[in-house]
Amino acid sequence: NLCAYATSQESLRGPTQAGPPSTDGGLVDTSPPKGTRDFPPEDMRLRTWLFNHFREVSSLFGFEEVDFPVLESEELYTRKAGEEITQQLYNFEDKGGRRVTLRPELTPSLARLVLQKGKSAALPLKWFAIGQCWRYERMTRGRRREHYQWNMDIIGVPGIEAKAEVLSAIVLFFSRLGITSKDVGIKISNRKVLQEVLGRSTIPQSTFAAVCVILDKIEKIPRSEMEKELAALGLTAEAVDTILQTMMTLRSLDDLGELLGAENEAVVELKQLFELARGYGFEDWLQFDASVVRGLAYYSGIVFEGFDRSGTLRAICGGGRYDKLLSTYGGVETPACGFGFGDAVIVELLKEKNLMPDLSHEVDDIVMPLEEQLRPQAAVVAARLRSGGRRVDVVMGNKKMKWAFKHAERLQAKRMVLVGSAEWAQGSVRVKDLSSREEKDLPLEKLT
Ligand code: HAM
Repeated sequence: NLCAYATSQESLRGPTQAGPPSTDGGLVDTSPPKGTRDFPPEDMRLRTWLFNHFREVSSLFGFEEVDFPVLESEELYTRKAGEEITQQLYNFEDKGGRRVTLRPELTPSLARLVLQKGKSAALPLKWFAIGQCWRYERMTRGRRREHYQWNMDIIGVPGIEAKAEVLSAIVLFFSRLGITSKDVGIKISNRKVLQEVLGRSTIPQSTFAAVCVILDKIEKIPRSEMEKELAALGLTAEAVDTILQTMMTLRSLDDLGELLGAENEAVVELKQLFELARGYGFEDWLQFDASVVRGLAYYSGIVFEGFDRSGTLRAICGGGRYDKLLSTYGGVETPACGFGFGDAVIVELLKEKNLMPDLSHEVDDIVMPLEEQLRPQAAVVAARLRSGGRRVDVVMGNKKMKWAFKHAERLQAKRMVLVGSAEWAQGSVRVKDLSSREEKDLPLEKLT
């Protein structure tokens, strides 16, 4: 189904014709481009509902909304660590010869805006954004070529408390939707763990980002393939073995403490985070997992991924600390952390858990002129009701009463307001309460 959240009925879709769009008056291909979605009203209602939750949660945490252009300079994404995202760009040269791309994510735009604001920005910045992102992906369930992403980021706080705040926001969002820690968990690790292991294996730190990008594919590609890619970066077979062994077997903070020592920075940070999570009351959502590294080159410290515990869906959200991103764009190194949360997987999860909201198109009043010549009077009634804040649908065209009542039922209208000549002559309209079925004439000045 090519509609956004696949809630619309197949039967509502017009005929589809394969092949290039027609220019000669024939039927065009009615499907949107592969991997993209239309948002018919029923899907738009769901999107608005979801975005309202994103906005309300962000505002409960004192974040301000920002936005960036969907079209960005390609250079923001030309990183050299072999990330999948840089190979999935919808990029092209514009008519002025500039290399541009549809943004695949929001973080580089956010970093650009922070740099542009420079000293005028009072740190910490607590910004959130909801934006459409474009990636030329191989499509699977919950993965598309465009998606909307909710981001919350804190710039300028080096401590773990920033991380704990954004994680707490994610958990509050889930809770508002009826999702519990039995449904969803958040796997947490620290890239500093890997850095330590790499350091011990005498691997040059410069290859660190590239190693992380490969290790992120641990569940997607066979071990032999991973070994080949890591070897190509100059890692010895022994080093590869140590890393993979560490990632696959480390499952608790105690194990990690034993490996690196209780005073190790990676261990201390994770312990602090778990302690804060206990304070906020979301510790049961967190799970230390050394195999989480994340596929984006710029992460430097704690990283995390939200996952559904039944194991059928792809990552629900993901984020981490990215202290070095601003400096790679020529700015000064600035502590930063945040997350991205897509609109696709969460809807799959809501469907699976039977938590989809019941969102119908609603109006308060249906106004119907009983004769065509009473349309101006119906207009007076509709205008009066709307200025009082009622949501009003005016019956258009020459419709039968039976149709109007069906229509009212479909829109879950509360009242039917009938404009008839006899009542109008008395300065009244006929009002029918659609739930109690009560009917009465009401003088226009009493109609609210
Ligand atoms: P990401 O893990 O690439 O991170 O994407 C974050 C989330 O966006 C994913 O967990 C998923 O919900 C959604 N998402 C990504 N790609 C797709 C797709 N093709 N179709 C549907 N949903 C998708 C980032 O983008 C980072 N910039 C997040 C971040 C913000 N880190 C710090 N601040």
